[in-house]
Amino acid sequence: MAVNKKILITGGAGFIGVNSANAFAKSGWRVCILDNLSRKGAQLNLDWLMERVEIEFKQVDIRNADEVSSVFKNYQPDVVLHLAAQVAVTTSVVNPREDFEINAAGTLNVLEALRLECPETFFINASTNKVYGKMEDLGVVERNGRYEYADLMSGVSEIRSLDFHSPYG
Ligand SMILES: NC(=O)c1ccc[n+]([C@@H]2O[C@H](COP(=O)([O-])OP(=O)(O)OC[C@H]3O[C@@H](n4cnc5c(N)ncnc54)[C@H](O)[C@@H]3O)[C@@H](O)[C@H]2O)c1
Repeated sequence: MAVNKKILITGGAGFIGVNSANAFAKSGWRVCILDNLSRKGAQLNLDWLMERVEIEFKQVDIRNADEVSSVFKNYQPDVVLHLAAQVAVTTSVVNPREDFEINAAGTLNVLEALRLECPETFFINASTNKVYGKMEDLGVVERNGRYEYADLMSGVSEIRSLDFHSPYG
């Protein structure tokens, strides 16, 4: 059980974040969550998680490069799972500057912290199918209780052309 590895999850108080944190902690990883708790329900997610497993929590906004850097420098993770984001297409249309500052510049802050403070660390980024636009040429089917692209059993290939339809994309 003792894995003795450390994972740092940005946006770790979100939907994917708490479930990932729970799974990693139960598998013996040390887990640190970095989140600004801006998402409604994030504190409740964190409370749920902390009742189940032991984790560290840093309340940091990824727009603050110095604070992000300091967490990376001190924690020295083996893996970073980057999930912190503004996640709504609609919000990105209403406030494209905030979307850019969090999703683009905030991600650059995370990458710079990695490059300068722990360059050997593995980096996993959660992207979105919104980078491929409307994807109208692909059929969607329901299989085993989940929606999937009819002919893409392994998901969307990275060679598919990008097609941005919103600031979020
Ligand atoms: N859930 C999905 O089905 C899905 C689908 C496609 C892509 N994604 C991507 O996966 C990632 C995580 O998605 P999710 O569904 O868990 O979202 P979520 O909104 O539940 O979690 C995002 C977390 O990021 C935090 N956050 C937001 N802005 C921040 C900032 N400036 N600094 C620090 N923390 C901040 C929020 O408080 C929240 O806890 C996102 O990049 C999202 O675009 C998710």
